[in-house]
Amino acid sequence: MNILVTGGAGYKGVLLSYELLKLGHNVTIMDNFMYGYEPVLFLMQYPNLNILKKDIRNVEESDLSKQDVIYHLAGISGYPACEANPHSAQLINVEATKRFCTMLGREQIVIYASTTSFYGKSGNLCTEDTPIEPVSLYGITKYEAEKFIMLREHSVALRFATVFGVSPKMRTDLLVNDFTYKAVNDRCIVLFENTSKRTFIHICDAVRAYLFVLDHYPSMKGNVFNVGDNSLNFTKQEISEAISKVTGCTIIDSSLDDFDVRNFEVSFDKIKSLGYGVEKTLDYGIQEMVRLYGFYKPFLAYRTI
Ligand SMILES: NC(=O)c1ccc[n+]([C@@H]2O[C@H](COP(=O)([O-])OP(=O)(O)OC[C@H]3O[C@@H](n4cnc5c(N)ncnc54)[C@H](O)[C@@H]3O)[C@@H](O)[C@H]2O)c1
Repeated sequence: MNILVTGGAGYKGVLLSYELLKLGHNVTIMDNFMYGYEPVLFLMQYPNLNILKKDIRNVEESDLSKQDVIYHLAGISGYPACEANPHSAQLINVEATKRFCTMLGREQIVIYASTTSFYGKSGNLCTEDTPIEPVSLYGITKYEAEKFIMLREHSVALRFATVFGVSPKMRTDLLVNDFTYKAVNDRCIVLFENTSKRTFIHICDAVRAYLFVLDHYPSMKGNVFNVGDNSLNFTKQEISEAISKVTGCTIIDSSLDDFDVRNFEVSFDKIKSLGYGVEKTLDYGIQEMVRLYGFYKPFLAYRTI
């Protein structure tokens, strides 16, 4: 198949592109490479790869017309990045997404990288039918885009749990990755609102979910799915304790409020009923990142040479 991966140079996109290339698909990565080119260098060995260095705000019909499937991952990802770039978040996450959707033919399939983040601060168990109440610009923009995409007949939205684990384009801002980084480097984790609950998934399982759609498309078409596992709903306290068990770090409870007020639990029964399940545990991801952070210093690496 001809497959376009927008945001294919990103944390999830690069590993998704790798798996699609290994399966023999003709893969086009469309990305503006705002985080650099290094993540995709190892993919150059694949002759079935095409790179389109482009901002999705400038997409043209000719970029899309030959594609059977579009995995749409490009965007300003995460709460802090959207707060720092509110205008771009609206233009990229919402307007550019709507614009490229209107250029697609009816039969072209869009698989959207949506998020559980917009379940907000209900504190309750959320299914795909739970009313949405985003509490951040990130959640608002992602939900607006999802609603538009799901007006199409041939679309699937995957509402991912917060991802953890290692990728060639690393994200240390994601909660488990961030806490593990602090545990290894600062020897302590400072917790705000330690009882807040969130849901998590290892990056390999996230990529497996994207591939799962290709194999189960008839039963997923036109639907929204939470992607994760019921066993991976944790409070921040539980995450910190799991990290402390491996690293021996101290956990400090702060009485201050967190700016990020998300607090929810998610049910993943819908995608599980189709046969999808995760393979990696939280402990697996923590061990993996402890190995990484033993040598990897994301910001200093560029300054000290
Ligand atoms: N990582 C998570 O925990 C998580 C959870 C749920 C949903 N998602 C969604 O999955 C998608 C990918 O997330 P990620 O963690 O890989 O993020 P990322 O920031 O690592 O990747 C995003 C990619 O999009 C590219 N990009 C940004 N703006 C662009 C533009 N205007 N034109 C072209 N390319 C552009 C960036 O260069 C980057 O390569 C995002 O849409 C995000 O909202 C991520």
